[in-house]
Amino acid sequence: MNTQSLQVLITGGSAGIGYAIAKEFVSKGNKVLITGRDEARLKKAAESLRKTAEGPSEVLYFVSDVSTSTDRNKLVAYIKTHFPGLNLLVNNAGAAHLHPLYPVAAGGNAPAGRGIAEAAAEEINTNYLAVADLNEKLIPVLEANGASGIVNVSSIVAFVPGVKLATYSASKAALHAYTRTLRHALAETSIKVFELMPPLVNTDFSKEIGGENGIAPKQVADDLIAGLQRNKPEIRVGQTEDMYQYSLSSPEEAFLAMNANL
Ligand SMILES: NC(=O)c1ccc[n+]([C@@H]2O[C@H](COP(=O)([O-])OP(=O)(O)OC[C@H]3O[C@@H](n4cnc5c(N)ncnc54)[C@H](OP(=O)(O)O)[C@@H]3O)[C@@H](O)[C@H]2O)c1
Repeated sequence: MNTQSLQVLITGGSAGIGYAIAKEFVSKGNKVLITGRDEARLKKAAESLRKTAEGPSEVLYFVSDVSTSTDRNKLVAYIKTHFPGLNLLVNNAGAAHLHPLYPVAAGGNAPAGRGIAEAAAEEINTNYLAVADLNEKLIPVLEANGASGIVNVSSIVAFVPGVKLATYSASKAALHAYTRTLRHALAETSIKVFELMPPLVNTDFSKEIGGENGIAPKQVADDLIAGLQRNKPEIRVGQTEDMYQYSLSSPEEAFLAMNANL
């Protein structure tokens, strides 16, 4: 799809991968709306994005926690009034807990007193249900605007799970399955559905799992732009492609390789 003259919403656009994606779109002269929970961080990110704009880009921000239906509804209402030309929705905001299944929560970062059900519910809610809900509410807006797209940001662990990120992997697997069926459901519409599948990326998000060894967020953003331009439904960034091919030829060996250094 075309990556210029767009109005792009990026959830979780104040840091990491979302910010890098926002920067790419701003540098191409697109109009960008970023969301996040922390207003000060969001405002700062929007200001620095405006400085990087070379063309006629416009950068808006809106405080919204994607995990609550109240905030999602407020975001949808804001878009209908202030950003009605939306034609690319990037579902990037995500939640993760380090939560090995046995010994129970050993070394995990699930908040004290919270077991798997609560930690997993937060991930499923943010990484899958919130995305599905926002998509459902914004599909009419996207459709009204003609050629448009939805990008769901999953992960390499959506198809080869990480044992320390068991519940997070399950939430991204749910997002992956949903994304495939959404693509099928929207096949006859003007909306293209993409899945962005990063490997380990060096962001705040991945600090606890050795994120400093990961690739730069900019590489993910560059691959997204290239993937959109080539209409690649699944954009498997860097090592994700190798792991994907490995998982097709030998699922068990791929699983062992994914978890070899844990
Ligand atoms: N980093 C990796 O290794 C990696 C690998 C594969 C996939 N991913 C996926 O990539 C996406 C982005 O991760 P990242 O590494 O860029 O994270 P990050 O650096 O921690 O940035 C997360 C961004 O999302 C916002 N955010 C977090 N929770 C939110 C919520 N409930 N509602 C709205 N905004 C929220 C944050 O701002 P506030 O905190 O102010 O809300 C921030 O702007 C996630 O879906 C993640 O699962 C990451």
